[in-house]
Amino acid sequence: YPCEVIRNFSIIAHIDHGKSTLADRLLELTRTINKRVKGVNAQVLDKLKVERERGITVKAQTASMFHDKGDTRYLLNLIDTPGHVDFSWEVARSLAACQGALLLVDASQGVQAQSISVYHVAKSKGLTIIPVLNKIDLPAAQPDMVAKQMHATFGIEPADVIKISAKTGKGVEQVLQAIIDRIPPPVGEPLDPLKAFLFDSSYDRYRGVISLMNIQSGVLRKGDKIASCFTRKKYEVTELGIMHPEEVSTDCLRPGQVGFVACSMKESAEAHIGDTFYRVGHPVDPMPGFKPAKAMVYAGVYPVDSNDFLKLEESIKRLSLTDRSVEVTRETSSALGQGCRLGFLGTLHMDVFRQRLEDEYNADVIITAPTVPYKVLHRNGKDSIVSNPTDFPEPADFASGGRAKGVEEPIVKATIIVPEKYFSAMMELVFENRGTGLEWHALDADGDTSGDGRVLMTATLPLTEIVTDFFDKLKSRSSGFASFDYEDAGYQASDMRKMTFLLNGKPVDALALIVHADNAANIGRRWVDKLFKVIPRQLFEIPIQAAIGGKVLARRTLSAMRADVTAGLYGGHYERKMKHLNNQKESKRKMKRVGQVDLPQEAFFDLLSSK
Ligand code: GTP
Repeated sequence: YPCEVIRNFSIIAHIDHGKSTLADRLLELTRTINKRVKGVNAQVLDKLKVERERGITVKAQTASMFHDKGDTRYLLNLIDTPGHVDFSWEVARSLAACQGALLLVDASQGVQAQSISVYHVAKSKGLTIIPVLNKIDLPAAQPDMVAKQMHATFGIEPADVIKISAKTGKGVEQVLQAIIDRIPPPVGEPLDPLKAFLFDSSYDRYRGVISLMNIQSGVLRKGDKIASCFTRKKYEVTELGIMHPEEVSTDCLRPGQVGFVACSMKESAEAHIGDTFYRVGHPVDPMPGFKPAKAMVYAGVYPVDSNDFLKLEESIKRLSLTDRSVEVTRETSSALGQGCRLGFLGTLHMDVFRQRLEDEYNADVIITAPTVPYKVLHRNGKDSIVSNPTDFPEPADFASGGRAKGVEEPIVKATIIVPEKYFSAMMELVFENRGTGLEWHALDADGDTSGDGRVLMTATLPLTEIVTDFFDKLKSRSSGFASFDYEDAGYQASDMRKMTFLLNGKPVDALALIVHADNAANIGRRWVDKLFKVIPRQLFEIPIQAAIGGKVLARRTLSAMRADVTAGLYGGHYERKMKHLNNQKESKRKMKRVGQVDLPQEAFFDLLSSK
């Protein structure tokens, strides 16, 4: 296959605008897959529970298809990108393997926050954009209005917009034509040194890591010895081929082609998205802009029964083999015992991992409050990244003569699109979460006064504010109508403090939080109330305190148990409790002592999993 007949493209869209459905139609139309039996949708069946609940696809699907036009047989490579903001950096990398993208917009919903962010990423990569309006079969579809919106937002000519229904198949043929006519073919010389770009990977129990690669130049064959530009590690190619849509082995992969490569790579962590591979002995310059994926949210994970640590650690290790982007280290807490500290790309990534872990490990786990990576500036001019409250400097360290001189926190540029009538609620949400630099403009061109016209808002927000319940609040305060996306915007100086919680005067390490000075009192009170509810009464009075350094910001006192109260030692969630009792023999053994206070691990579970 010479480059001229190859087209490499992606479908980019806001969640639920129909990416998977369109991909299916394209595969059917090119006879890559058979028409699905009515009512059965393989994609839906494959999905993780988390994915179904949130209506998004976490794992991408890449496929090659053939399409004849005149005498020419074209090879079309659909490079799928993960569908969530947590993975937006990976989306950017996957797009580097394409020359074009279908920008899919739901004709009944219009342009949404993610449509805008993915458009900008694709545009910045110099890709040809084919605008496609989907769901025109819906009675609520307003294709002409949305085409105008696309003109106003992206400068896209309405005449270039293809109107389709991925559901009924109407117009999809035109999309196929446009892919061939409008997207330029890749360029690459077979005789140049091998340059292979890794844009996705998966894990196979028997064969190890299966990488998806795009050949930029040279020819890759079975038996070739290749090396990574990033790690310099060497591998031997054991199998390669195209995804059609299942793996089909071929002799080689040529310039412009996209396919799978199995080699002697054992761990997913070695497959860095965006890495470039070369033939051993013939090094090349890597594709520009590569940086390894970085974790943005950290949390400690503990077994509810501390005797189960090894079993939990084993499950975490097994799972992280299949998910290259999770960082794993061990940590110990005096309150929770032995656990693991995990780093995730974002909170959705954390939820997905947690669910897979609970399914696999067959029990609940205690996950500590998420922490983002802070940059601590030291007086000696150096700085360090701190992602665990335990390592965060104490107030005394910031005093004159102390080792630290300041802290910077990670910030993001957030985009919200919302019907005008929810604008003030969204503005409040942004300010409550320390948002700054709020800007907005009306998205819908013609002066709509019904309150349904939409507003595009952008603001800078601290990452830590959006990793907890920002998304839930955004949805509930806009009756589900707001859409949201964000991108990394670096670090900014910020007055962050370490808050500790004390029981009977003793700090509980697993509960330490890093909070902004302005929110400290509120957060302290909220957590003290939560603790008050879950800590079982004991034979003596227990002061529960939130403090920063030596300064107590909130306090409640749990009164002593009266002698005649014997039942209801622990008042947590009944079903949960029964589940634990059934799952794990006796709950008494699991009591931890903190400052002479007996604490059941379930109390932590309820505390940390309650909103
Ligand atoms: P994620 O990948 O999970 O983010 O979603 P997606 O963009 O792939 O969307 P998906 O293809 O799963 O479609 C979302 C919903 O819209 C599904 O319920 C589809 O059946 C429906 N849908 C997709 N295309 C059309 C269409 O043309 N018309 C109608 N009426 N519904 C559609």
